[in-house]
Amino acid sequence: MDKTEILRGDITTLDIDAIVNAANTTLLGGGGVDGAIHRAAGPELLAECRTLGGCEPGQAKITRGYDLSARFVIHTVGPIWRGGTHDEARTLANCYRNSLKLAAENEIRTIAFPAISCGAYGYPIEEAAGIAFKTTREFLAMSDEIQKVIFVVWGEDVYNAYRKNL
Ligand code: APR
Repeated sequence: MDKTEILRGDITTLDIDAIVNAANTTLLGGGGVDGAIHRAAGPELLAECRTLGGCEPGQAKITRGYDLSARFVIHTVGPIWRGGTHDEARTLANCYRNSLKLAAENEIRTIAFPAISCGAYGYPIEEAAGIAFKTTREFLAMSDEIQKVIFVVWGEDVYNAYRKNL
């Protein structure tokens, strides 16, 4: 049974175990989904992020969800698209793999991802969607801790690109 699904909407509204943030290396907030998550979680999220010492691209770090319905936020930093010759695909795959690993380690059963790097970081959406699904399905095939992965997409373009992977 496929444990992945696609949802159009605002990731900050989901009442699930964890939502993933498309952050930057400082982990100190930003625009896009990063800004939305910090606004919805409240100032305590930033306070905890300040204790984490940043995050490398492809890595993931976990915090509580504070005022969000989600109990945890997993912060990951996607690659900035530089034409595809700077290991962007491997870094993006690592974002999904490391976020799922961290979720499994924290007994998280339901997790939602935004379209990492598909906004300000300029990753070609079709390719990013393929990496998201392939990496996630590979992980889910190897471990059964996680029961549901929801890809939450905001724009029409991303939604259409993701649907092609169903
Ligand atoms: N819920 C779900 N998806 C959202 C939301 C939301 N509330 N807001 C934006 N998105 C979508 C965007 O439309 C895009 O498809 O999330 C995807 C990722 O876009 P960005 O948020 O721009 O993230 P990214 O491309 O990874 O760039 C990260 O932007 O906000 C800064 O601090 C962040 O420097 C980092 C960079």
